Amino acid sequence: MNRLFRVVLLCAVCGVGSSVPTPISYVPEVLSSTVLGRITQTTVALEQPLCVFNSSDTGCVNCDVWLLVANSSGVARFNSIKNEFVDPSSLMYQDAFSGSNGFYLTVKTKRNVYSCPATAIPGQILTLRVGAEVPCTTPNCNAPLPTGGTFRMKYILINPDIKTPNIVAETEFTDEIMLKSATDPNTIVPFSRRTGGMVVITTILSILLFLLLAMFVAMLAVVCCKKSMSSDFPEHITRFDSLRRYNTHSLQKNPGIISPKGM
Ligand SMILES: *[C@@H]1O[C@H](CO)[C@@H](O)[C@H](O)[C@H]1NC(C)=O
Ligand SMILES: *[C@@H]1O[C@H](CO)[C@@H](O)[C@H](O)[C@H]1NC(C)=O
Repeated sequence: MNRLFRVVLLCAVCGVGSSVPTPISYVPEVLSSTVLGRITQTTVALEQPLCVFNSSDTGCVNCDVWLLVANSSGVARFNSIKNEFVDPSSLMYQDAFSGSNGFYLTVKTKRNVYSCPATAIPGQILTLRVGAEVPCTTPNCNAPLPTGGTFRMKYILINPDIKTPNIVAETEFTDEIMLKSATDPNTIVPFSRRTGGMVVITTILSILLFLLLAMFVAMLAVVCCKKSMSSDFPEHITRFDSLRRYNTHSLQKNPGIISPKGM
């Protein structure tokens, strides 16, 4: 059974012949988790596929590297048509997820742009941000991805000069990449959660400080009043009345305020 399966597989490969895209054992890489914004609500930052297509069909100097973005049904759809001639202009973002495709091609790049870096700068990573083109005005534009969607991505090499099956090579698909969604609590990074807690603590501390200050002012006021009563006896509430009376008295003694009638 197993041997029969292998024979069938071999014959299938023989039958399709050279039209099968050369598989390249490279999985497009999302930037490492230490990079801020590697996956946002509408974009994904990939590493550029430098040196990836160097060895495949080197006679095809005019070939283009395309990025392919697919949803779950788009992966199967692409696999079903990849041995045929594909026209990239019929595989645009605009109708990828409204028609029957489920995938689109974008970021057309001449393959020599992704040639092996002559001098590798340590620590430098060249990125390709999927979903970075706003507004989307060009054909096959790199439009923002639908928020919260799940996608798989790969690079394919297309020979633009032939009308026969034109996908020369393909990398592997990434695993499913889930974009952040606006309502997903997981998108709140721990840093901002801590900040939220700190805001609450700061508010409570501010209120406590205000209450303390208020109490201090109240105490000061009480002490001042007692002083101005110039009394050693704290129990005499009536002193306020006497004080008022006293003031009135002194005012009456003030010549400027005394009415002629009072005289
Ligand atoms: C993928 O895209 C196809 C084509 O527009 C659509 O019918 C399908 O519902 C999509 N699948 C998911 C999981 O979004
Ligand atoms: C990769 O390809 C480019 C041109 O396509 C060439 O200049 C470069 O030497 C190649 N690098 C390797 C390692 O094959």
